[in-house]
This record gives sequence, structure tokens and C-alpha cells, in this order.
Amino acid sequence: MFFIIKIYNYSQYSSLHTYVSICYCNAMNQLTADELRSKYIGFFVSKGHTQIQGKSLLPENDPTVLFTTAGMHPLVPYLLGEEHPAGKRLVDFQKCIRTGDIDSVGDASHLTFFEMLGNWSLGDYFKEEAIKMSFEFLTSPQWLNIPLEKLGVTVFKGEGDIPKDDESAAVWKSLGIKRISYLPREDNWWGPAGTTGPCGPDTEMFYYMGDAPCSADCKPGCSCGKWLEIWNDVFMQYNKNADGSYIPLARKCVDTGMGIERTVTVLNGKSSVYDTVIFSEIIAAIEQSFSCKYSGEQRSECVDTDKSIRIIADHVRSAVFILGDPKAVSPSNVGAGYVLRRLIRRAVRHGRKLLEENSEDKTAAIKLSSIADVIIQQFKGPYPELEEKSSFIKIELDREEAKFMETLQKGEHEFEKLLPNLLKDPRRIMSGRLAFKLYDTYGFPIELTEELASESGMTVNREEFDEAFRKHQDLSRSQSGQAFKGGLGDQGEMAVKYHTATHLLHQALRLTLGEHAAQKGSNITAERLRFDFTHDAPMTPEQIKTVEEIVNEQIRKDLPVSMETMGIEDAKKSGAIALFGEKYETTVKVYTIGNSQHDYFAKEVCGGPHAERTGVLGKFIIQKEQSSSAGVRRIRAVLE
Ligand code: ALA
Repeated sequence: MFFIIKIYNYSQYSSLHTYVSICYCNAMNQLTADELRSKYIGFFVSKGHTQIQGKSLLPENDPTVLFTTAGMHPLVPYLLGEEHPAGKRLVDFQKCIRTGDIDSVGDASHLTFFEMLGNWSLGDYFKEEAIKMSFEFLTSPQWLNIPLEKLGVTVFKGEGDIPKDDESAAVWKSLGIKRISYLPREDNWWGPAGTTGPCGPDTEMFYYMGDAPCSADCKPGCSCGKWLEIWNDVFMQYNKNADGSYIPLARKCVDTGMGIERTVTVLNGKSSVYDTVIFSEIIAAIEQSFSCKYSGEQRSECVDTDKSIRIIADHVRSAVFILGDPKAVSPSNVGAGYVLRRLIRRAVRHGRKLLEENSEDKTAAIKLSSIADVIIQQFKGPYPELEEKSSFIKIELDREEAKFMETLQKGEHEFEKLLPNLLKDPRRIMSGRLAFKLYDTYGFPIELTEELASESGMTVNREEFDEAFRKHQDLSRSQSGQAFKGGLGDQGEMAVKYHTATHLLHQALRLTLGEHAAQKGSNITAERLRFDFTHDAPMTPEQIKTVEEIVNEQIRKDLPVSMETMGIEDAKKSGAIALFGEKYETTVKVYTIGNSQHDYFAKEVCGGPHAERTGVLGKFIIQKEQSSSAGVRRIRAVLE
């Protein structure tokens, strides 16, 4: 074992960013995530792509999702036809969270947080060139150097009017790929992200995990289960309409996604992502904090211990990235904050379990923040925001952990009080309503109630609990378990109007309250806008009225909204508002609301889309002004 010090230069970062990363490599010189990231970017830059900045984990102005769930998510408007300021060939790496499978985390492969590498063609190259580039990156000795016999691909089998994808298959064949499967829509079709929008057939690349394919017919999808998907090239070719029809897109695009964790796993010959260099230091920190031992590849009998360790490793990593995001949320009972709370609390529960099983000191503090430290150090190179926010990350983790410990104590105490009565039931079933009451009143998790119940030989009526829980959840909470349902592509006309109204509101607040009234967050649905901004006192009724009047005056003037692309520094010099802490591309779009570049009301760096003129917005009404968090106010407003 030895340490290698590597110096990377991610020169496409908004600020030239050179970093030193100490990677832990073993004698086999295993490929690290840092190496894969820079190889991928390097390859596609050499093929004429511009590296763009990965975006926040918390999408703005997209009411349909809580987290960014795929590399293409921030690019939906461009896949739908908008021009991207950085051009037609793009490459990036994007942090993603998918919570749909949160309950499966703990096995060998599931993760809630992952990184996706992607390259895009916005109306530039299509199938042949995309496949040839994928092939070169995978097989060339200069890049990943994967032997041909390790690779197999799948292509779309065809359905209805949409033909089978012989074109892609022919390109793969011409390159020497022998194992090609034609699979149906369930496997080889991606999108639309929402119910309508861009979508198309895809071709997926698989790596064979055994020594040699099990038979001459062994192809991706074979029942031997040894083929693992590592990359997906989607040919965005159709726009799915609300009536279910598929209309060919005027501008065909390519969207690709390569999972970093998976690819590192297969290239290092591991069967679990948790056994790779991505997790080795995190797991070492967990072993130390919880006096336990991860058996990993040795697959000893410690299955439960391994499971708890993996859950802690995954959940703390996700929590660190959510808290370390420029648009971070704190643990709460709604939306993304609720997911964060669940992740932290589940990690604490498993930490407590490990301590109970392994430590002399059962009351030892859990301190997820010490594991967070290791994660921040490991990922601060590509994600410098983690180090910038490291004290916030650790304070929030400690605070949530302490809150949860208190909850656990209260809940356990209440359960003890209920126990004598519960034991009178000859069926030994605890009612779901009672379990829900423990959850609702004390925040006591159902899994713990079940655990305590089982220790006394009882079960909980889970159906009844789930029913009560479902009724209780509000809209944003119910969203938290959803997988990616939609992107900006789903935004209707109203949402576009609210977006323009948000710019007017932002400027009106700055004029009324002062320049410190800067945007901290924004959320738009088809029904309303919500806007968070820095200001340390409640607004007076007069101030609210003034802001409303200023916005409505701009609407009455029916000002044109125009867009220009320029360098981020020129944008700032031109007076455009750019959000503090937001990472921008080197070239950005600037939306101006006003008659000219010299006579305007508002100018902001923004991705769009916007209304063409303010006159279409209707009447702007502030419904509510309240505190959002310390020093931050929140406005809810509607257009009528
Ligand atoms: N958008 C495609 C995916 O997430 C590339 O797999």
C-alpha cells in the first residue's frame, strides 16, 4: 500500500481551480474517481466539447423534483431547443441524488448520492459519432483500455411506429463489438423526464464481471447476471406530447450518462461499490468511530455489521453533499429537508446499533461529523463548496444528531409506559394508529417502534401505520420518495410568467429595502412563486405595498424581456445581478427586463426561460411575508 499525491487542474472551473488530492491507492494502482473524472473530461474536451459546471443538487424553479437526479436534469431547456451559451458540445460531472431506492441502501450496489459524467450534443453529432466516441473512450489504451471481450451493448428493439435501432447496432458491429442485444422499451428507452418532453431510444454499454462470458450467446441481459451497465447514450429524437404521441424533434440531441461509482467498481474488479477506493477511507473512519470491523470482500458472517456500515457511509455522504451545496437546506419536516433528516437519522440509528453491539461505552456520542470530515477532505477537490461550508455541515449534523437522540429517549420512555397495556393483547399486535402517534407526537421512527415491539414479542400493524402516515403527508413530503418525474420541460406558461415576476420582485426588493436584499432561494409552481432573500427584519406593510406597486408598474409598462450571452465577468460588469455562492459557466445568459441595455429595470444572470414581455404577467400580489431562517425572509406571491 502506498500514497500517491496527484495534482489536477480543472481549468474550466469558474475560478481557475488547482487542487491537490491525496489518493489512497493500493499496489494494483486502482483507478480512482478523481482519475476517471479527469480522463472523461479530458477526452471529451479533446473532441471539441466545452466543460460546463455541474449544477446544484437542489434544482431551482423546478417544482417537480427535490433533487437533481441525472446529469441531463439541468440541461432540459437546452435539450428542448434553447441555445446553450457554451455551445453545442458539452461535458461535465454532476452530483446527483436519487432517493427512490433509499430502503435498499445497505446492499452491495445501492447509493443515494452518486456522480454522473455526461457529454451532450445539442443538435450537433448524433448516433454514429456518439457511439464512436464512447467506444474510443472505453477501449483506447490512452483512456480506459477495456478489452473488447469485456464489453457488450444493448440497443432499442423497436415498438409501434418507432423502428428498431439497426443504425446503432451497425455502428457497434463495425467497431468490433460482438455482443449486442436488442431490448424493449423498459430497457432501452430514456425519458421523457416528466410526462411530456424530449426522449428517445438509447444504447447502453455493459461490462462483463466474470472471467469470460458464460456461453457463446452470453449477452448483456443474460441470466448469468454478470453484465453491469456503466454508460448510457440516449438519442433524444422525439418529443412526447400530452396526448401520448411522439413527434420527431426538430433538433436531435445526444444525452449520455456514466455513473462514476459503478465504473470505478467494475474497472477495479470489485463486486461492491463499497469495496472500492471511493469508500475505503470513509469506511475506515466508521470502523474507528464505532469500534467495528467491515468484512467487505471477505464476506464473513458480519452481514448486519457490513450493512449498517454501508448505510452510514452512503447516508453521511449524501447529507454532506446536501448540506455542502450552495443552495443547502437544513434538516426539516418538508421537502428536501425531510429527506436530509431521514438520511441523518437513519445513519444515527445504525451508528447506535453498531455501538451497542461493539463498544464498551454504550452511551458514547455518535458524532457523524467526524465521518463528514473525511468525506469533505476526499471530495473537496472537485467540489470546493464542501470545504467552504464545512463548519455549517458539521454543526448541522451535530445538531440533528442531538435532536434525534433526545427524540429516541422520549420515544423509548413513552413506549415503556405503553408496554403493560400492549402486552394484554393476546395477538401481540400493536395498533398502527398508536405507532403513528409515537411518530407524530415524539418523532419516533416506525422502524424503532417495530424493533422495540419485536423485543417484547410483538408486531406492529404496519398497514394501519402506513395509512395514517400517508394521510398525514403533505404534498412536498410525498414528493420526497419520488424518483425523477420531471424537469424544467414540464414548466407551463404560468411557471414561465412566475419566473419573470421573480426577477421583477428581486429588483423591487433591492430598491425598497437596499442592495442587501439578495436572493437566497426561489421556488416556482404553476400557482405561485416563493422567494427567499436576506433581510433581518419583517417587512412593514408599507414596504410590502411599495414592492407590489413597483412590480405592477413594470407590468403595466409592458417592458420587453431580452437575452444576451456574454462572459460571466462582462455580465457582472454590465450590472447584471449574479447570485452569491452560485457557480456560473464562463459564458452565461443575461436576461434584461427593459427597453434597452442602458434603460432597463432588472438585469440578471439566469438560464431562463422567461416571458417575452412583462405585460402578460397580470396583477402581482404578495400573499405572505414571513421568516424563513435566521436573517432570511420569505415572500409568497401570486399573479392574477
Ligand atoms: N439521462 C441518461 C441517464 O440518466 C443518460 O441514464
